[in-house]
Amino acid sequence: MQPSDDWWRSAVIYQIYPRSFADSDGDGMGDLPGITARLGSLRDLGVDAVWLSPFYPSPQADAGYDVADYRGVDPLFGSLADADKLIAAAHGLGLRVLVDLVPNHTSSAHAWFREALAAAPGSPARQRYLFRDGRGPGGDEPPNSWPSVFGGPAWERITDPDGKPEQWYLHLFDVSQPDLNWAEPAVRDEFVDVLRFWLDRGVDGFRVDVAHGLIKQADLADWHYPNAILGGLSHEGPPPPMWDQEGVHEIYREWRAVLDEYPGDRILVAEAWVQPPGRLARYVRPDEMHQAFNFEYLEAPWAAEALRTVIAGSLAANGAVGAPTTWVLSNHDVVRHVTRLGYPVGEPRRHGIGAEDPQPDAGLGLRRGRAATLQMLALPGSAYLYQGEELGLPEDTRMPDDVRQDPAWARSGHTEKGRDGCRVPIPWEADAPSYGFGPSDASWLPQPGVWAEFALDRQRDVPGSTYELYRSALRLRRDLGLGTGTLTWVDSPADVLAFRNAEVLVVTNFGPAPAELPAGARVLLSSEPLTADGRVPQDVTVWAR
Ligand code: NOJ
Repeated sequence: MQPSDDWWRSAVIYQIYPRSFADSDGDGMGDLPGITARLGSLRDLGVDAVWLSPFYPSPQADAGYDVADYRGVDPLFGSLADADKLIAAAHGLGLRVLVDLVPNHTSSAHAWFREALAAAPGSPARQRYLFRDGRGPGGDEPPNSWPSVFGGPAWERITDPDGKPEQWYLHLFDVSQPDLNWAEPAVRDEFVDVLRFWLDRGVDGFRVDVAHGLIKQADLADWHYPNAILGGLSHEGPPPPMWDQEGVHEIYREWRAVLDEYPGDRILVAEAWVQPPGRLARYVRPDEMHQAFNFEYLEAPWAAEALRTVIAGSLAANGAVGAPTTWVLSNHDVVRHVTRLGYPVGEPRRHGIGAEDPQPDAGLGLRRGRAATLQMLALPGSAYLYQGEELGLPEDTRMPDDVRQDPAWARSGHTEKGRDGCRVPIPWEADAPSYGFGPSDASWLPQPGVWAEFALDRQRDVPGSTYELYRSALRLRRDLGLGTGTLTWVDSPADVLAFRNAEVLVVTNFGPAPAELPAGARVLLSSEPLTADGRVPQDVTVWAR
């Protein structure tokens, strides 16, 4: 194994959603050359690495999480040569690059699935997926009662060339995303090869999609409780037979050994909706993955005690296995945090918002969102940012239903608005077409008419702007070593969360009474101005020394 510099233990990793970051050719769809051209602005922001959501050849039924070829680039986004240029340009700027690996399912357009459809039941081609005979007379009932995460049953029946109903296949997500059979050695070999393909091209690691889902309980036992749309840390009923099965860990041990053959500390990060934290920590034991997203932190209500419990619990669970804790507030699957925090504390998390739904208090959400970010960036470990959050960009909560593209919207029978509201192309320049997203007005999801105020060029070098707050926080975090520090709690009133990390005192006030800072404390950064007498107002985070 090569010497390691452990960059990932404290890294700030910025998620790029390629469809919506920057469009180089004006077709309304973001692309790799667009990203490459804008990488400099991420260096200026001060992040350490980028993670790109999928850009592989795909019918885009689930925005690219339906992969038809794991070794290519969809012409929508460019070419393999563009990917090479992006990786080289990022490295030239000192930014590491993670790509998204989607091993739980392929697209139904993948060559393997086409082969499986053309092959006979029981054939090796069928063995790579989870095909089963149906239950009941004529096999007309699905093989079990599992629900799909996107709504409806998790099984789809196929027909033979004469149109006669035949076997069923499992799809935990969309019908166009058949689940792979990870008990099959050919599947395992293929993904090791895919890892090597991208490692050889120089990527610094992988974000692993649905990492808790690859192995299913062998008997595929019935289970019919709601499988909420990526909203679900907690489940009703007995332990779900499709999630967090013991067998997944063997896969990650094998992958870890592959990554460790490469120089330069390449990493694996798990997207695993698993709880409690001790269960999640099993994914980041020393011979498995490096990091796992801390969705419990993202899901915590805006309240001192709840956050203290989550922070302490995650640090303890990860500490026990020697892994860094990660922190995340937003991504492409959840309502953006400045919008989420604009609703009353303690309401269940919404899975998408439409014009007819109660609307958030935007001012309050931004205020709390800035405070939440300053708290997150002061915590030891690694933090994930989602494109646009550095602009204080809200969810589009009034998107017309007829432009929605998330498969969850249709499959839920139009009961879940889905995730389009956080995926709208981001604004760079207030007065340019598509706010500088691309050279034309085109944008695959419409941009709200009021987004000029969020554009980067309206915030850069503007004291007090959200962008400058992120930039200052990232600079201080690095200079003061917050990512590699150790947290100790500081006694505080019930509505206040206070801790020390690397000599910095971090105070968030959740309550109406202004919070005192210790005598002589020097304020380094605060998410909003303090009171005239130097106290911390409600919904504000302060870093002090
Ligand atoms: C998690 C991804 O983040 C999400 O966008 C996707 O729909 C599902 N996995 C299925 O791949």
